[in-house]
Amino acid sequence: MQVLIYHQDAAQWRDVLAKRLPEAQFHLGADHGNPQVDYLVAWKPPASLFEEQRGLRGIVNLGAGVDAMLNNPALPREIPIVKLRDAGMGELIGDYVRYGVLHFQRDFDRYQRQQRTQSWREVPVVDKAAWGIGVLGLGAIGNRVAQMLAADGYPVHGWSRSPKQLEGITCHHGDAGLDALLGQVMTLVTLLPDTPATRHLIDRATLAKLPAGASLINPGRGTLIDEAALLDALGSGETDDEAHLRGALLDAFPQEPLPAESPLWRHPRILITPHMAGPTPIGAAADQVAEALGRLSRGEAVETIDPDAGY
Ligand code: GLV
Repeated sequence: MQVLIYHQDAAQWRDVLAKRLPEAQFHLGADHGNPQVDYLVAWKPPASLFEEQRGLRGIVNLGAGVDAMLNNPALPREIPIVKLRDAGMGELIGDYVRYGVLHFQRDFDRYQRQQRTQSWREVPVVDKAAWGIGVLGLGAIGNRVAQMLAADGYPVHGWSRSPKQLEGITCHHGDAGLDALLGQVMTLVTLLPDTPATRHLIDRATLAKLPAGASLINPGRGTLIDEAALLDALGSGETDDEAHLRGALLDAFPQEPLPAESPLWRHPRILITPHMAGPTPIGAAADQVAEALGRLSRGEAVETIDPDAGY
């Protein structure tokens, strides 16, 4: 089997995949002039690559989010497309979310502000049991994150498009379910895929349904959030008085890197990280890629994405 790898660390992927699939021939992808191959293993490939490949029998997306792949106008949508499931990113993102939850629940944001004025003032702790957390998106990663937070002792509410039942999580679905969740959570975590149905889901109306003093953590996709609505909900953040939304920890943005002129960089109630919440652990991911390529080449069943649903 001939496999083309398109990724900024393509040589590293080739080395780990060659160990797992000794019978395959791997090629490092360029934007143009690649040999014809059977399978493409890629992250954000350019349209030119699809225009040139005429006999692709399957694609493996080297990430959990397939938005960039599906937004590619030249993508052959009729062939099997496999994405990485939770290859360890779930736990990394879970730790990122834990950091954010503790930042607000244990008042590190307030103490940071107090430090600027040498103010020594202890704030009473809100018990974990009274700190509901909402996880929007219960795919492999959202589920893992929800389980970690529940194990930490927080009441966790999960939300998905279709009904789900998960041990230890209060599950909600649909529009009515989203409203019910929003009213009960002090931290909202967004782990939904970027699809037409999720774009700007976090808008003025959604944010208004959160309790006053709630916080937002977005390790998912930047497109989920209406940025103007977020900034309004946060207020100026210049004084100690809190606006409706207490603060936000953001890892994903519609345009990355986040442009220097974005007001998000300078807002005192926003913490910014450079899309680092869930880097892909290459070993476990390579196991998944090798398994998918093996199954595809043997004509066996493999879990593919639904291009119309967008995940
Ligand atoms: C990263 O954002 C991914 O989708 O894997």
